[in-house]
Amino acid sequence: METAGDRIDMRVAARRTLTPEIEEFSLSPCDGRPLPSFTPGAHITVATPDGAMRRYSLTNDGAAPKEYVIAVKREPNSRGGSASMHERALEGAVLAIEHPENDFELCEASRYILIAGGIGITPIVAMARHLTAQGKPFELIYCTRSPEDTAYLDEALSLPKSTVHHDGGDMDEAFDFWDLLEKPGREHIFCCGPAGLIEEIKALTGHWPEGHVHFEDFNPVTVVREDDVPFTVTIAGSGQTIDVPADRSILEAMRDAGIETLSSCESGTCGTCKCQLIAGEVEHRDSVLMEEEKSGFIMICVSRAQSGNLTIDF
Ligand code: FES
Repeated sequence: METAGDRIDMRVAARRTLTPEIEEFSLSPCDGRPLPSFTPGAHITVATPDGAMRRYSLTNDGAAPKEYVIAVKREPNSRGGSASMHERALEGAVLAIEHPENDFELCEASRYILIAGGIGITPIVAMARHLTAQGKPFELIYCTRSPEDTAYLDEALSLPKSTVHHDGGDMDEAFDFWDLLEKPGREHIFCCGPAGLIEEIKALTGHWPEGHVHFEDFNPVTVVREDDVPFTVTIAGSGQTIDVPADRSILEAMRDAGIETLSSCESGTCGTCKCQLIAGEVEHRDSVLMEEEKSGFIMICVSRAQSGNLTIDF
C-alpha cells in the first residue's frame, strides 16, 4: 500500500492543450533525482490541487524517464480533481504523485489490437509508441466524438494501421467492432475507454481465449448517488463534528474542513483511507473490507451513514 511517504514532489514543467477539454502536463521531479522507470500502460496517482487523488496514465517512454507526461480530460461533472488540474496546475505548480504502477501491462504477443475511446487513448498511445519502436505489428481503433475532441489525432492517423472513428455523440453511429472481433486470433487486445466501450468489447470477445483481452478502466466511480442524504461525522480524537452534504463523500467533507487524511484510489478499492468506526450505522460501499471488519471500520472515500451520525477515528 502506498503512503504519503512514498510520494514524489513534481513540478509542472510544461502544459499543452490537446483539445478544448484535454490538457497534457509534463511533470519534472522537484529535487532533480532520477525518476522510477515504468512500462507502457502504467499510471501515476496525482494529488490534484484541490487534494483529490486521481489516476492518470503515463504517455511518455518509461525506460529512463526524465519526466512523467499525463493528459487530463476536464470531466463535465468534475467534483474537483480534473477541474482543479485544468485551473490550478499551472506551469511551475508543485503536485505530489505516487510511484508509477501498472495494472495494464503489455504482454508478449505476435500481434496486438489496441482499442481506445476518448481519453482512454492515454495508455494506448504509450503502447502504440512502444510497439512502433519495437517494430511489432499492431492495429489501432480509436473512437471519439469529433476530430476536435481527439487527442493525439495526427499521431494516430500517421500509424501504418489505424482507424479513427467519430460518432458525433450518436450511438447509432458507433464503430462496429464485430468484423474485427468475430474470429478470435492469436492477437492480444488492449482496450481503454468509457464504460460503454469496455462493456461492448467484453460482450464481443466472450468467445476469445482467456487472457487475450485486457482492459483499463479509469471510469469514475459513483461515489455519491442521487438519493444520498446529508449526515454528520464526529472525529473521536478531537470531538470535531463535520457536516457531510448529500453530494460529498466523508473524505471530501473532511478535506473541505481542513482535516488531512490519507487516500489514494478514492473509489473504495485500495484500502488507504480506512478509518476506525466507533459508533453509527454504515452503508458500506467499498470492495476492501471483509464482512467481519465492517462493524469496526469504514472506507471514508465511498461509504456513508445509514443514519444521522457516525463517529470515526483515524
Ligand atoms: S482511498 Fe482507496 S479505498 Fe478509500
